[in-house]
Amino acid sequence: MSAVPHTATAYRAMCSEDLDTVSAIEQRIYAFPWTRGNFADSLIAGYACTVMECEAVLIGYGVLTLAAGESHLLNLSIDSPWQGRGHGRALLLNHIDLARARGARIMLLEVRPSNTVARSLYRDIGFEQITVRRGYYPDTAGREDALLLGLAL
Ligand SMILES: CC(C)(COP(=O)(O)OP(=O)(O)OC[C@H]1O[C@@H](n2cnc3c(N)ncnc32)[C@H](O)[C@@H]1OP(=O)(O)O)[C@@H](O)C(=O)NCCC(=O)NCCS
Repeated sequence: MSAVPHTATAYRAMCSEDLDTVSAIEQRIYAFPWTRGNFADSLIAGYACTVMECEAVLIGYGVLTLAAGESHLLNLSIDSPWQGRGHGRALLLNHIDLARARGARIMLLEVRPSNTVARSLYRDIGFEQITVRRGYYPDTAGREDALLLGLAL
């Protein structure tokens, strides 16, 4: 069980001024990161883009689409020094609350089979596997499958 975050965290909508920080974190924590343009496009598209701050330091973020009763979590990230302290769980629960409040009845997401940390978190929250998307992700060895997970809200 992660320690409950003992430092106060806050959530707010991502804005264009956050893009440099968000992109820098993204490059740090993923082998195949989103580009700055991917985040900029998400803001332009009107996706629900949220940042998590701890004492005014941006420590995590998420990107969620909401349409027709479905939510799709496209990105959920905690900066490396802050991982393993319960912040990822809190950020995910914040997104679930947001999706419910906007009328979504299901949350979908893709995860790499090799991402044991994220899979453990999603399993713990109650996500279940719906299907496997073959060769969905780039990988050093070619392509990696994605597990499509779903949570009834
Ligand atoms: C995945 C991620 C969002 C989880 O956030 P986090 O703050 O590190 O995780 P938490 O401390 O909230 O832990 C939540 C659960 O994750 C799992 N977990 C966390 N750290 C773990 C570790 N080192 N090993 C195994 N499981 C781990 C556990 O199930 C944990 O629950 P528990 O503490 O009750 O056992 C974060 O590690 C991250 O951003 N990783 C890199 C980007 C990424 O993979 N994003 C998800 C893409 S689908």
